[in-house]
Amino acid sequence: MNELSVLQANLTTLKSIFRPSSPTDDQSLFRGRRNQLRGVMSGLAEVGQHILIYGERGVGKTSLGYMAKSLFDTGPALHRVSVRIQCADGESFTDIWQDFYLRLRAAVDAKGKELRSHLEGALDSLDEILNYPNSDTLTATDVHRALAVLASDVEVLIIIDEFDRLGAWDETTPFGDLIKSLSDDRLPVTLVIVGVADSIDGLIKAHASTPRSLRQILMPRMEQDELLSIVVDGYAEFGRKAEYELSCDQKAAEVIAQVAEGFPYYAHLLAGAAGTEALYRAEHAIGVEEVFQSMVVAIEDADHTIRSSYVSSTTARADANLETTLMACAMARADELGYFSSTDVAEALSTLLKSKRNSGHVNSHLQKFSSAPHWILDRKEISERKIRYRFHDPLMRPFVLLKGYHQGVLGGGKESESS
Ligand SMILES: Nc1ncnc2c1ncn2[C@@H]1O[C@H](COP(=O)(O)OP(=O)(O)OP(=O)(O)O)[C@@H](O)[C@H]1O
Ligand SMILES: [Mg+2]
Repeated sequence: MNELSVLQANLTTLKSIFRPSSPTDDQSLFRGRRNQLRGVMSGLAEVGQHILIYGERGVGKTSLGYMAKSLFDTGPALHRVSVRIQCADGESFTDIWQDFYLRLRAAVDAKGKELRSHLEGALDSLDEILNYPNSDTLTATDVHRALAVLASDVEVLIIIDEFDRLGAWDETTPFGDLIKSLSDDRLPVTLVIVGVADSIDGLIKAHASTPRSLRQILMPRMEQDELLSIVVDGYAEFGRKAEYELSCDQKAAEVIAQVAEGFPYYAHLLAGAAGTEALYRAEHAIGVEEVFQSMVVAIEDADHTIRSSYVSSTTARADANLETTLMACAMARADELGYFSSTDVAEALSTLLKSKRNSGHVNSHLQKFSSAPHWILDRKEISERKIRYRFHDPLMRPFVLLKGYHQGVLGGGKESESS
């Protein structure tokens, strides 16, 4: 292979390891999360238990769902089938189970002839029950009946991801009823529900006794050592696969983990960007300097929705200072739920500008940021005089800080260079 082809192959390998935009479905790339994995394993081991994985956006919920799938698929039962469904905006209970039927067929086909002929009769019954319901919509009883037919032939795992995108709050009620009835009948069917929420109450409208059959797994942000291992082990994995050594010194890995602020998404983004730059320069060592230099690439590669939301919230012809105030919001001291006050922002702005600012200086910007077209902050009114803000998208805060580091506004970055 010539030099360019080798570089291309190495970049492809690197991007298969550091892939901020796709969940981790490979056990060998999944890091940390011991407690959450234990919760999943116990849930899978106990008939009648179902699993609910919830937490902030981007913390690794879908990846944990994939680990459940991978653990289930490699389990001992001879006949087993797992199906993953992704809810789309506005879908109903009926939409989800009709989609389930299609995905089940595809999963069975993928497993080969033997399972297909074993399940032929069951699939026909499911088709009838799920696709031709008595009324227009499916009920929890219909779905229970279909799953009972299936479960008499195979063990079943069903992962329903992006559950928070279901059409209406009432659409979640039949899921609660279904979980309760599957659990009461001890059918070998496990549901794994995955979604963005602060608590179970924010995700599913459940029967009072449902929580007992629903193992709740909160995905917190990642610990520093978990983020470090994504970076360090990721480069080691690259070395094994590509036969090209990339090594990251401890300090550089710590910078990445620190900027990531608990989000594996940013650990992948930054480690991938630093690795890419090293490959282009035919270098092997990645230090702090290289990490800061690669931030511009990370910013360009960041999720489109984050970048465009940043641009639309900081662009206003008559107001060049919006960007600085937004930086102060990202630096502001926040409570454990991410909320901060205008005083916190003013304090951060004073540090940033090295000159005293008070709430009055930031209030008009905060108002802009919490309303259209600049909307980037959620606003919570605790009392008339007590207002709190937080980033609507939790992934925005590290992005704003990344910009700050890159522009040299925050410590460690290179001096202002437009991006
Ligand atoms: N335990 C882990 N080890 C290594 N990488 C991880 C881990 N968990 C998540 N990631 C990575 O972090 C990023 C976000 O993960 P994932 O998509 O699972 O999060 P999510 O919570 O489902 O996000 P969203 O709320 O946007 O659906 C992906 O790049 C994924 O590969
Ligand atoms: Mg997800």
